[in-house]
Amino acid sequence: SEKTYEHLLVSSPKPGVGFIELNRPKALNALCTPLILELNTALRAFQADSTIGAIVLTGSERAFAAGADIKEMKDLTFSAAYGNDFIESWSDLVTFLKKPLITAVNGYALGGGCELAMMGDILYAGPKAVFGQPEIKLGVIPGAGGSQRLTKAIGKVRAMETILTGDNISAKQAGEWGLAARVFETPKECVDGALATAEKIAGYSQIAVKACKEVVNKSQDLGIREGVEYERRVFHGLFGSKDQKIGMKAFAEKGKPEWSNE
Ligand code: HXC
Repeated sequence: SEKTYEHLLVSSPKPGVGFIELNRPKALNALCTPLILELNTALRAFQADSTIGAIVLTGSERAFAAGADIKEMKDLTFSAAYGNDFIESWSDLVTFLKKPLITAVNGYALGGGCELAMMGDILYAGPKAVFGQPEIKLGVIPGAGGSQRLTKAIGKVRAMETILTGDNISAKQAGEWGLAARVFETPKECVDGALATAEKIAGYSQIAVKACKEVVNKSQDLGIREGVEYERRVFHGLFGSKDQKIGMKAFAEKGKPEWSNE
């Protein structure tokens, strides 16, 4: 995280917390390929850093991200898009990341910006957050998971309406529909709230945190029976960890656990 980036600000403002701010203000954080590649690099560095337990991703007050970079895409051909797996670098963002990612959304989260926000494990919204999948207005469709993740988050009829009309979803609506876990009263409270939640998570056993994320994510892919069985196997496995002994011993002795992360 000592590396400097062209389109990101990367820091660790609290113990155990990695913080990434999208920083391409002139284009409202439009997600050009160099930005996405930098984001991959920064997330991988936090993933590899054993002192980091959770990560917060945010944009600016005006825009989390106004989408994929339309100027970069406008002359793209089918053969280049298909041949070079355009957008494939985005899917990496979620599949390799085992540590919790909290996305703190203020301002526009449109198209690829909305999709990026939904790739996080927990989504927090500021009062002026605006979500939407406006690709229909550009003659295309969501391309980084929007049709799948938005539908899982808010249900088919709401997602269908959003994606077919290109209309925006307000912060209030996002909270009511369960797209955002929490809606804050100011942009700063949104980011601070995300950092506080990340700090809390980073204070737990990293083994247990990793397992929590893994089993909750399985619920998105498995049926209830296989999901519950999968959860039980992982639960059983945790009795092989030192931190299970440390956590339960501390409770029984009315003490405070000192996690070993083993
Ligand atoms: C490239 C963008 C951009 C984008 C904004 N900008 N969004 N550049 N790609 N997605 C640039 C503008 O061109 C402008 O640059 C500057 O940022 C400021 O934007 P304005 O439009 O002047 O600001 P404002 O009038 O406040 O309007 C804000 C806005 C509007 C409503 C968010 O910018 C907008 O509609 N943006 C596009 C939103 C969108 O369609 N997103 C989906 C993209 S498709 P200049 O140089 O003129 O000052 C997508 C597909 C995903 O994401 C597929 C998989 C990844």
